[in-house]
Amino acid sequence: MSDQEKPSYAKGLEGVIAGETSISKVDGEAGQLYYRGYPIAELAENKSYEEVVYLLINGELPDTEQSILFSAKMRNARDLSEPILQMIRNFPRGSHPMELLQSVIAYLSAYVEHRIHHGPHCNCRDTLHQVAQLASVIAAYHRISQGLEYVPPRRNLSHGANFLYMLRGEEPSPEEGRIMDTALVLHADHSFNASTFTARVIASTQSTCYSSISGAIGALYGSLHGGANEKVVDMVEEIGSASAVEPWLDHALASGRKIMGMGHRVYRAKDPRAVIMEGFLEKLSEQTGDRHYYDILKALETSMARRMAEKGKPIYPNVDFFSGAIYRLLGIPKGLFTPIFAMSRAAGWLAHILEQRVDNRLYRPKALYTGPEPRHIT
Ligand SMILES: CC(C)(COP(=O)(O)OP(=O)(O)OC[C@H]1O[C@@H](n2cnc3c(N)ncnc32)[C@H](O)[C@@H]1OP(=O)(O)O)[C@@H](O)C(=O)NCCC(=O)NCCS
Repeated sequence: MSDQEKPSYAKGLEGVIAGETSISKVDGEAGQLYYRGYPIAELAENKSYEEVVYLLINGELPDTEQSILFSAKMRNARDLSEPILQMIRNFPRGSHPMELLQSVIAYLSAYVEHRIHHGPHCNCRDTLHQVAQLASVIAAYHRISQGLEYVPPRRNLSHGANFLYMLRGEEPSPEEGRIMDTALVLHADHSFNASTFTARVIASTQSTCYSSISGAIGALYGSLHGGANEKVVDMVEEIGSASAVEPWLDHALASGRKIMGMGHRVYRAKDPRAVIMEGFLEKLSEQTGDRHYYDILKALETSMARRMAEKGKPIYPNVDFFSGAIYRLLGIPKGLFTPIFAMSRAAGWLAHILEQRVDNRLYRPKALYTGPEPRHIT
């Protein structure tokens, strides 16, 4: 076979355009992220997570009336029914909350009406359970696993503030609630990443959005996708102090270690979400009087920037660089970081599932066969 006849192949689909989307755009060169055309910084500054969910799944920001109705719908969907609470209580201790989330989402599917006569589509644009209830499940999981009582959701708090309330059993300060809610805005979508692509592949078979989201959670569970922010916190704890950054980096880079929370496949500038997260971390560090994480991370960023610029390979912080430290200062344990990513990204997954259904074509790529030539059993 000549080179021209060989089918093109890109390992990991790198560089391959696998579909069209109007949901979010990542401009890696400029370090910009847009949801439905709006720059992420503008949305983070001015809009709540609920408004951003509306934008992602409907294409436009809600007006005041639409916003009130949509918020009410999301907030009414926060409650966990008794069978779901039982499932959380009975889930094997020691299992990862991502496994619980994946199972709960599939289980929730049994509680909605499926339009079986028009394919197994659920009424997911209307129920919003799969977006609203993830936060409640994570908070309930945390409290139950700590031997604490489940705290039912409140309807007069934003999605982020209510999550902190359900986790702690105490209302967070308005600033903490806003930071949590904005962190959810920042993670809500990021184009064709592995979990979103998973959700779209499953949706392309005309499966329900619950099985699509459950599959997406499975993809996010993998360490190459979610979880870098947990490793950033481990790294900061290992470094210990800002003055130890230089010798720690000398050793880490000499031994070929990747610096967690740095670098990105698409961004060639500082991730715009990291810029916003950095501001939050600085603010929280001042408020709590705990500058430990901030000082170490800033020293690390500065030192890495200098070293990589000398090598002609600039590497910048990504969204995970500051987020783990923010969550720690909000009193959230490390094991919940990836579930929180899922609870935010559920909005993007749902938007992509709905978009996939509009002009669906079953995903069925080809493989480059590398096995034996046809042969016979002798
Ligand atoms: C995200 C990631 C996988 C992207 O990797 P990538 O696409 O190979 O990155 P690039 O092609 O831009 O890498 C260019 C060079 O910088 C190096 N580099 C990239 N990220 C680095 C990091 N975090 N620490 C040290 N060096 C890094 C690469 O090894 C490569 O060096 P080489 O040319 O000598 O091989 C990588 O940056 C990484 O592992 N980061 C840490 C984990 C993380 O934060 N993940 C969350 C991503 S949102």
